[in-house]
Amino acid sequence: MINRRRTLQALGLGALSATGLPGRLSRAAAQSAVDAATFANTLAIPPLETGRLESGVRHYALQVQSGNRQFLPNTSTDTLGINGDYLGPTLLLHRDEQVAFTVNNQLDEATSLHWHGFHLPASEDGGPHQQIGPGQTWSPSFRVMQNGGTFWYHSHVLHNAGEQVFRGLAGMILVNDAAEDTLGLPRDYGIDDIPLIVQDRRFAADGSFSYMSIYDDMVKGMHGDTILVNGTWQPAFQPTTRLVRFRLLNGANARSFTFAFSDGRQFSQVASDGGLLAHPVALSNLELAPGERAEIIADFSDGRDVTLVSLPQQNSFPVFQGAMSRIMRSLNAQSFDLLHISPAATLQDNATLPLQLAAIGRPVISEQMQVRQLRLSMGFGSRSGEDRGPGTGARTGLGGGHGGGHSSINGRMMDIDFINETVPVNTTEIWELTNDSPMAHPFHIHHGQFQILDRNGRLPPANELGWKDTVKVGSGELVRIVMRFEDFPDESNPYMYHCHILEHEDQGMMGQFVVV
Ligand code: C2O
Ligand code: CU
Ligand code: CU
Repeated sequence: MINRRRTLQALGLGALSATGLPGRLSRAAAQSAVDAATFANTLAIPPLETGRLESGVRHYALQVQSGNRQFLPNTSTDTLGINGDYLGPTLLLHRDEQVAFTVNNQLDEATSLHWHGFHLPASEDGGPHQQIGPGQTWSPSFRVMQNGGTFWYHSHVLHNAGEQVFRGLAGMILVNDAAEDTLGLPRDYGIDDIPLIVQDRRFAADGSFSYMSIYDDMVKGMHGDTILVNGTWQPAFQPTTRLVRFRLLNGANARSFTFAFSDGRQFSQVASDGGLLAHPVALSNLELAPGERAEIIADFSDGRDVTLVSLPQQNSFPVFQGAMSRIMRSLNAQSFDLLHISPAATLQDNATLPLQLAAIGRPVISEQMQVRQLRLSMGFGSRSGEDRGPGTGARTGLGGGHGGGHSSINGRMMDIDFINETVPVNTTEIWELTNDSPMAHPFHIHHGQFQILDRNGRLPPANELGWKDTVKVGSGELVRIVMRFEDFPDESNPYMYHCHILEHEDQGMMGQFVVV
């Protein structure tokens, strides 16, 4: 990997633009096929949990537990998991069904499980207000109102979500619906429909997870140097079909990935966070920030080995003395090999890619719409991230206990006892997201899906024109989103909005709103 980076630098490609890859990359990146020879571990596929249908309600039993897993040769790692030692089963849900969960916490610390991307009552959401104490069981129930797509669930416990997710409390959720059913996309789970939960981790010499052990992580969020995919280190996957659907989940705490194939081949993105796009979008690379998902279709008809990689990103942060410049310039500077792919000798003709996928209209804007402004900020070493307005004083544990950043939204850090915004039910609002900090933040809203209106006044790229629940807001960028707030008015149970860099969330870059 280091050799490849040197090669890239030698070619003057040290700072690649995330779009418009030069053709020269193909040859340089082909080097990774050599590195990939060590990728000998079969990619784990999380078990598919289909639930148990009982008088019209589908039931899922989940146990949050601690465990132990051998990720790396000759060491073992203490972990957390759901119905297993690391991560959880992939939950298969069906649109319009009523689902019920029992979530039993067998840990000796509080936790929660949040259904990321779902439109449901705030009381069933699994955020910081639905904390599950040690030994306790939480039993949420809701109707699945999602379009077919790829979602996920993860710990959302106040000030500690970062560490719990890092240790393993996350899993994927697939939603099926009738419309997606008829399209003929690859959908044989584990065969041609493959979940990829991509995470970076740092291990200590004894094999234990090393969380937040470096100062930089306090600022930019927990970044690891070792990639796990579905909990597998150096994974390999053997396609047995011409087309494969990969369900990409950036399940990292803080790191963005720019997915691409080592030979530069194109692929088609068919779904974003909230389900299918209007039509497939051909790409040669795709950036996902933490919390974002994408479904892509890749074609392995040529039978050639290839590696799924993450490319380094362009970084224009100025060079100056001191830690901040160094930390910001190191962001996403590294490339990674993620998954070695080696197609079988004969490949089944399993699917064709339709030209049209889903009907998605562009949002219609009107003068009457409420506009809310949310400004994402970071403070460094001082309290500069927080204005300390009325109602924010006299609290302990500021900064989420990590002692680093003081992240805030509109100058205010997350306060579990303070409702930041009140949204009238059955309205459509425009939220203007700005970022006055030196790095990008993936902004996520609970309650449902939104659409991106524009980025700095310009239409977003084609693959961002579908349903989203998490959107990257670059440093200095203005991103306008449109969201419909309907159903579930409840003045006593708030929804969250926050940065999905989990350490920023834990440090206070989170707020609460009620729909009334
Ligand atoms: Cu994926 Cu509020 O979280
Ligand atoms: Cu969420
Ligand atoms: Cu952030």
